[in-house]
Amino acid sequence: MKERYPYIFSQGKIGSLITKNRIKYAATETNFPYGDGYVSEREIAYMEAQAKGGAGIVTTQGAYPDPKGEGKGFKGMMAIYDDRFIPGLARIADVIKKNGALSCIQILHCGREGGVELDYCLMPSIVPQRLSYFKKPREITKDEIKQAVKDHIQAARRAVDAGFDMIELSGIVGYLLSTFISSYTNKRTDEYGGSIKDRCRLMVEVIQGVKTQVGERVPVGIRLCGIELLDDRGGNTFEESIESFKIAEEAGADYLSVTIGWHESSIPVITRDVPMGHWLYVAGEIKKHVHVPVMMAFRQFLPHIPEKAIGDGIIDFWEACRPMIADPEMPNKIASGREEEIIPCIACNLCFSRLYYHQPIMCSVRPSLGHEGELEWGYYGFKRVDRPKNIIVVGGGPSGLQFASVAAKRGHKIKLFEKDDALGGDTILASKIDSGEEELLRPIRYLEGECRRAGVEIKTGVLVTSEILMRENADAIVVANGAKTRRFKDASDNLVWTYKDILGEGKKPPKKSVIIDGCGVGLAVAVFLSRQGGFELTIIEEGNRLGRDMNPFYLWRFIQILKRNMVNILTGSKIIDVKDKTLTVKSSKGKIRVDFEGLILAGRESSVEDFSGIKAYSKELYFIGDAKKPRRLNNAIHDGFRLGMVI
Ligand SMILES: Cc1cc2nc3c(=O)[nH]c(=O)nc-3n(C[C@H](O)[C@H](O)[C@H](O)COP(=O)(O)O)c2cc1C
Ligand code: SF4
Repeated sequence: MKERYPYIFSQGKIGSLITKNRIKYAATETNFPYGDGYVSEREIAYMEAQAKGGAGIVTTQGAYPDPKGEGKGFKGMMAIYDDRFIPGLARIADVIKKNGALSCIQILHCGREGGVELDYCLMPSIVPQRLSYFKKPREITKDEIKQAVKDHIQAARRAVDAGFDMIELSGIVGYLLSTFISSYTNKRTDEYGGSIKDRCRLMVEVIQGVKTQVGERVPVGIRLCGIELLDDRGGNTFEESIESFKIAEEAGADYLSVTIGWHESSIPVITRDVPMGHWLYVAGEIKKHVHVPVMMAFRQFLPHIPEKAIGDGIIDFWEACRPMIADPEMPNKIASGREEEIIPCIACNLCFSRLYYHQPIMCSVRPSLGHEGELEWGYYGFKRVDRPKNIIVVGGGPSGLQFASVAAKRGHKIKLFEKDDALGGDTILASKIDSGEEELLRPIRYLEGECRRAGVEIKTGVLVTSEILMRENADAIVVANGAKTRRFKDASDNLVWTYKDILGEGKKPPKKSVIIDGCGVGLAVAVFLSRQGGFELTIIEEGNRLGRDMNPFYLWRFIQILKRNMVNILTGSKIIDVKDKTLTVKSSKGKIRVDFEGLILAGRESSVEDFSGIKAYSKELYFIGDAKKPRRLNNAIHDGFRLGMVI
């Protein structure tokens, strides 16, 4: 309902352009393009979905402006260094404008994070990489600086030729412009280094050059770092960052996008433990010093947050990246009062991590991402089946709910049984681990709503028995009841707790407990208990890697918490003996004895064998989610979706 969010849905102004609302889909690298710089059909279909979703401005992914690929930071990054890319880019501009949004193209030289296909990256000064993934720095020469300015100007010319309404420059997180602006990476003694004013010189030359090239008709904005979070390494002070925004405005920037942190900052920025709206104070401070429109993304996942921020004069535009990867239709759904239908981003950062494996982005909660142009993925609605089936779903966790909603939308008649009173399965346990984790329940609530809207019959508190299966006589049974705990035969039962006992039933294990299996679940239990305090925990993991199934964003945070709480972590360690209350563990360092009062089982295994007898009750039997193979939430949702698409 637009009336509920009068600020978000009021018109805005950037330069000479009027926007229909205050929502800007933020630049998002996808790795969908082909790898040679040309845009792909997949990228165009994705951009079309974003434009149809109702945002006032839709920004493209960053396009690299130089032919050598020093600015190229992702294998599938779009290019704008030659006129031959104009026709492809024009298709993106067209598809955005045709669907009622202003089209904004981002020009991005990745600098410290660039040279993805080279063996070096360009930097103002040689400052060793903190993230080993990135290339060895080489100091950029004066001639190369001049060339970089020209490359940006030529890129801007091509952007206008391609028909874009607006141009955005990106000077954030370790990209070229930001490395000049930051005192952490700019140690130059020529006119491009020194004071903040001199460190901004490259940015100023780029803004002025681009503005002169494109004229007043095409607004030019810039993304800059509002706060670098690099205090531990001599990065810019907040005052210097504010100064960089003022300098950008003076150079002619028509809007300013405030961003937070560098990729190598050691403070969490976009994970669930960062409360929604937390970073707005940075934008608010910057807005006090400038006159052009200010915008910000960063964990503004619910509309009341930017609505208030715009109303309070903290920002002028709401930028949204991950919330709109998860659901490009978010603006339309807010406008028409269908907020409960928004597919909620859970800040898991799977999309982001995929970029660094050189893979196209995927979304945990929206399996149709990257398939918007393929009818069978149902982004614009599913085709109904000719012969609907009666289907029983056993289990109301994420895989079962996702399956049921898709299959029901295709016309099947679905009955879903959940043995517990609440839907959600192990996601309910995961939501208790740490602050912010309750957001994991948002997709459960969304999927429950989708099921109900699609006519799925949901029965909670009902254990599926052979009588029920016989009575239902279903055409297909889908088992989605989660994993079972991997047993540990060598210890007596009174010494053993499972992760479900602790996270689900609130049982308290003894003070001196050993967690068997350092996978995501094992670490989650350790974090959960550490936060309660009073435990002396050991984690034993056979493999050499802790949290092998976890997203690096969260693994990093969990390990920090465990280290702080002095959890004893033994990797590459196999339990070879249990006697009374002592484990003998074999590792590369030899045999270790670990005394314990309790053992916590965190390993999981599939329940396929336990359910094989079910075959007798139906022609078709399927296993999805953890029941098929214990994995993560995204796998459960994707399993359910994919089976729902084809059954
Ligand atoms: C998959 C992914 C790709 C991104 N690509 C870009 C990019 O090309 N250029 C850019 O300036 N920011 C990029 N960002 C940063 C986002 O635009 C945004 O600032 C950030 O995700 C925080 O906003 P959010 O909380 O709304 O996601 C990317 C973020 C993600 C998750
Ligand atoms: S992958 Fe995760 S972080 Fe990225 S958009 Fe989807 S839910 Fe959000």
